[in-house]
Amino acid sequence: MPVTQTIEVSEKPLPGFIGDRAPMGMLIGGDWTQAASGETFETVNPATGSVLATVASGGPADVDRAVAAARRAFEEPSWASMNPHDRTLVLLRIADAMEANAEELAALESMDGGIPITVTRGMVADAAKTVRYYAGWPKILGTVNPVDASVHCYTVREPLGVCAGIIPWNGPLTMAVWKIAPALACGNTVILKPAEQTPLTALRLGQILAETGLPAGVVNIVTGFGETAGAAIAGHMSIDKVSFTGSTATGKEILRASLGNLKRVTLELGGKSPHIVMPDADIGAAARNAAAGFAMLTGQVCVAGTRILVHESVLDDFAAELATAVSAFRVGDPFDEQTMLGPVVSAEQFERVNSYVSLGVSEGAQIAFGGGRFDTPGYFVEPTVFAGVRNDMRLAREEIFGPVAALMPFRDADEAVRIANDTEYGLAAAVATSNVSTAHRLARKLRAGVVWVNTYSELDATFPFGGYKQSGIGRELGDKSLESFTELKSVFIRL
Ligand code: NAI
Ligand code: MG
Repeated sequence: MPVTQTIEVSEKPLPGFIGDRAPMGMLIGGDWTQAASGETFETVNPATGSVLATVASGGPADVDRAVAAARRAFEEPSWASMNPHDRTLVLLRIADAMEANAEELAALESMDGGIPITVTRGMVADAAKTVRYYAGWPKILGTVNPVDASVHCYTVREPLGVCAGIIPWNGPLTMAVWKIAPALACGNTVILKPAEQTPLTALRLGQILAETGLPAGVVNIVTGFGETAGAAIAGHMSIDKVSFTGSTATGKEILRASLGNLKRVTLELGGKSPHIVMPDADIGAAARNAAAGFAMLTGQVCVAGTRILVHESVLDDFAAELATAVSAFRVGDPFDEQTMLGPVVSAEQFERVNSYVSLGVSEGAQIAFGGGRFDTPGYFVEPTVFAGVRNDMRLAREEIFGPVAALMPFRDADEAVRIANDTEYGLAAAVATSNVSTAHRLARKLRAGVVWVNTYSELDATFPFGGYKQSGIGRELGDKSLESFTELKSVFIRL
């Protein structure tokens, strides 16, 4: 691979929260504690490869403690039975405190995960908005059912109990909030396990929660690895629900582990999302959306639009516009305000993404542009687009989780839909067209939980999100999260 550019990243001062080099504890029952085993792990800054902090490595004994604390907080008349209006006030205070500490949260997120600071600022703002959206939900209503006059029949939604969130590293604070905010709004208590690559914003959020008057044990943060802390959560007999975001392979393990007590499981998994460019689209705008769709967050996005399907009549124009759009993305120091793409999260991801670039070449696809490497100790990857890809190549079937896309031509809309749906995933899809009928027709035919038209990646707290097929089970955000964080009880009273 040719060297395209040298990237220099200077070491930044660590936020005060990280403190000295002592191992950072986890939050269990309102106390900051080390792992029962005394084990720790290091979290690294992927822009430089240097160690940011040492963190407690939780295991089964710590998960047991967290479950006991969460169960106590659920059963004591503190959280579940609090007047919902008072819960609203606590959640609003949490959102305010996140905003008051926004710059520090953004900096921690950028350091730990390599996400550019301009992006993490937006993520923190959106996370606070999501908390506020769920704060406004003491509106979880039941029904009165029309049965015969001698009977009063009604339904009521009740919290599940102890709900765990197991989250990935590609948007750690966003994911933490997607799990915590609706769970709390419904009166549950929570155990959150952040990814081992990016534990810092979850720990800082834990501190904010404690400072805003959330009762001890209502939210517990257990740091650690998937095989230890994660697996102990997934198989725990006294956890009522696991909400997971991450790879499809791990999602299947979590579902398997849930069988012991039939805990509720929602899964937000991988994708290989198609982006269909029709010949009547605004080609420049479509190319800019497609470029952002596969490359933003350095491709580490579950909804990344990595299969770009373009009508053959506009393929050459589109490819030229796409190259222009991608070359405008500045790759570099996450703390440089001009940077649009930071490094991938870890040495492991770096190897994985590069191995897919080599695989694409060996499968017979051609690098249309990109494919170079950077001279730097950080884990930077150049956005790369392949041409000559067939949809049966691994390059077109497997989630890469790096800025690597396949460009494929189609002859007509039916063929585009056929290729788009020919995948084991079904998380997202997009259509670029100027014809509103085409937009609606294709939106209906695409087998994906989210369809964007003339845009990409936009989400909103009101917008249910989740996957068809092996992209997951269940939906998050909007009122759908409230269904998945409650049980429904029917009461039948003979009058
Ligand atoms: P992962 O899915 O294994 O990790 C996500 C979370 O699950 C982490 O908190 C991890 O500690 C936990 N975990 C891992 N194994 C577990 C187990 N057996 N039981 C309970 N929890 C467990 O993803 P990983 O290993 O970080 O990345 C590997 C690949 O997964 C990536 O290259 C990417 O393709 C995909 N991925 C997809 C994501 C998505 O949102 N679609 C997010 C992260 C990774
Ligand atoms: Mg890190």
